[in-house]
Amino acid sequence: MTTHVTVIGLGAMGSTMAETFLKAGHQVTVWNRTPGKAGALVALGAHEASSPAEAGELLVISQLDYQAMYDSLGDVDLRGKVLVNLSSDAPSVLREASDWVAARGGVLVTGGIMVPPPGIGRPGAYTFYSGPAEVVTRHTETLKAISDVTYVGADPGLAMVFYQSQLFMFWSGLTAYMYASALAQSAGVAPSQLLPFAQETFGGIAGEGPMGFLKYLTAEFEERSYPGEANSLHMQAVGMGHVVHAFEEAGIDATLPVALKRLFERADAEGRGAEGLGTVIESIKKP
Ligand SMILES: NC(=O)c1ccc[n+]([C@@H]2O[C@H](COP(=O)([O-])OP(=O)(O)OC[C@H]3O[C@@H](n4cnc5c(N)ncnc54)[C@H](OP(=O)(O)O)[C@@H]3O)[C@@H](O)[C@H]2O)c1
Repeated sequence: MTTHVTVIGLGAMGSTMAETFLKAGHQVTVWNRTPGKAGALVALGAHEASSPAEAGELLVISQLDYQAMYDSLGDVDLRGKVLVNLSSDAPSVLREASDWVAARGGVLVTGGIMVPPPGIGRPGAYTFYSGPAEVVTRHTETLKAISDVTYVGADPGLAMVFYQSQLFMFWSGLTAYMYASALAQSAGVAPSQLLPFAQETFGGIAGEGPMGFLKYLTAEFEERSYPGEANSLHMQAVGMGHVVHAFEEAGIDATLPVALKRLFERADAEGRGAEGLGTVIESIKKP
């Protein structure tokens, strides 16, 4: 079914989304704050609006943050419009934005898209959506052009809770790999020598085997019980101190290892050193 989609924001993400909607056969209107970014899309059949007021009923927004939506649509009549905002921001900002759109007669669907531009419209791409379920369902067929639709709940902040959780794991996991590679390189070990062990570690953590800590910890989080007989947090806090020592003596940055050491030591000092590593979550919940 052909739908009219208006894409607001023609950065790396928005322009790829507009192109993907066009290729899926939709009628596409585009608008960007700074003119001059729509040429290639117009050549593919998009209509370039001179103002966001020309938007149709369905708007897909991809901008730097939610402030950009206020700046762009502050003067636009939103009655009857569905705004699907795929920009990044904090959950509370999304909740306020939902009220802001509703006060102007529109409906906000919030989304966190989990792929970079080359992944848009490709198999495996997915987006966390939150907001009114019936509105998401009504537009699912159209939205599926850019990615799978993963609906996570009515609270408009939820899309970003899932998105930020995923991004945090992505960035901190990869930064840990950068620290590990820098440590290895400081001793003359080539990054390619470390790679198979990094693959073993990341794969094992996510897997079903004896290193399948994601699964073990999830069960512990749900039970709020952290058995530590096999490997106590205290032992791991001391071990984290050894990691910090290794970074410091190598003469490389130790910011991330020091942050982990402090966190482990705080959980230990709070009296839970005999429990397992999972007990650290209790310290995270109470800063
Ligand atoms: N790139 C990725 O890999 C990726 C992946 C997932 C999610 N995201 C999220 O998707 C969103 C867009 O990312 P991007 O990579 O496309 O960013 P980008 O290339 O930097 O584009 C940013 C867009 O926001 C617009 N914008 C910024 N401030 C504005 C304002 N005050 N008023 C109106 N328009 C404004 C820009 O317009 P001008 O052209 O006028 O500056 C541009 O269209 C971000 O929230 C990002 O976190 C990105």
